Amino acid sequence: MIAAHFFQQYVFMNDILRFLQQRNSAPKLQEPAPSPEVMAEIFRAALRAPDHAWMRPWRFLTIAGERREAFGELLDSCLLQRTPDADEAARTKARNAPLRAPLVVVVIASVSPHPKVPPQEQRFSAACAAHAILLAVEASGFAGIWRTGAPAFDRNVMDGLGLAENEEVVGFIYIGSRLGPAKSIPQLDAADYVSAW
Ligand SMILES: Cc1cc2nc3c(=O)[nH]c(=O)nc-3n(C[C@H](O)[C@H](O)[C@H](O)COP(=O)(O)O)c2cc1C
Repeated sequence: MIAAHFFQQYVFMNDILRFLQQRNSAPKLQEPAPSPEVMAEIFRAALRAPDHAWMRPWRFLTIAGERREAFGELLDSCLLQRTPDADEAARTKARNAPLRAPLVVVVIASVSPHPKVPPQEQRFSAACAAHAILLAVEASGFAGIWRTGAPAFDRNVMDGLGLAENEEVVGFIYIGSRLGPAKSIPQLDAADYVSAW
């Protein structure tokens, strides 16, 4: 009985390992996005990111439907403030960027003073939450990609999204259903990145 339990656990864990080893971003996304119920499950996975002192140094915004167009307008106006001579092609690209997926999740690091947890660690936690979202999206049968670019570091974009002064954009996670075949994954050898000290 005990042996059967361990065998089942082993097979199950192996499936999870294979899944982790094969996570694959999807640059091209289409409808549908996960339902709000599925997204709630996905966010629960994000909340299990490692978190020193349980500060919960993260927050998530969802941008879907017509709100993506409003976000595109914000990206365009912030582009003009960063680069007043931006040409029409660049402006159109900025306006259309959020339309590349049915759902965009803005992962935010909410950084506060703490005697033992420096800001860097709080950012690490929020980044782990972003990775957990990508994994949970894929585990739910959907696909996603983490994007940043200049807007992620632009205070005007952050203000337009309603971020407080102590908040930063960790990433824009584009989410939907994979469009076209999955890209091939580079075959990396872990030994090239690991050594004993
Ligand atoms: C912090 C961060 C920011 C990124 N920003 C972008 C981006 O702005 N545009 C982009 O095409 N890929 C960006 N990427 C890379 C993609 O998310 C993805 O990792 C890459 O396409 C490789 O695919 P893979 O993750 O399946 O190997 C970013 C990744 C990280 C971790």
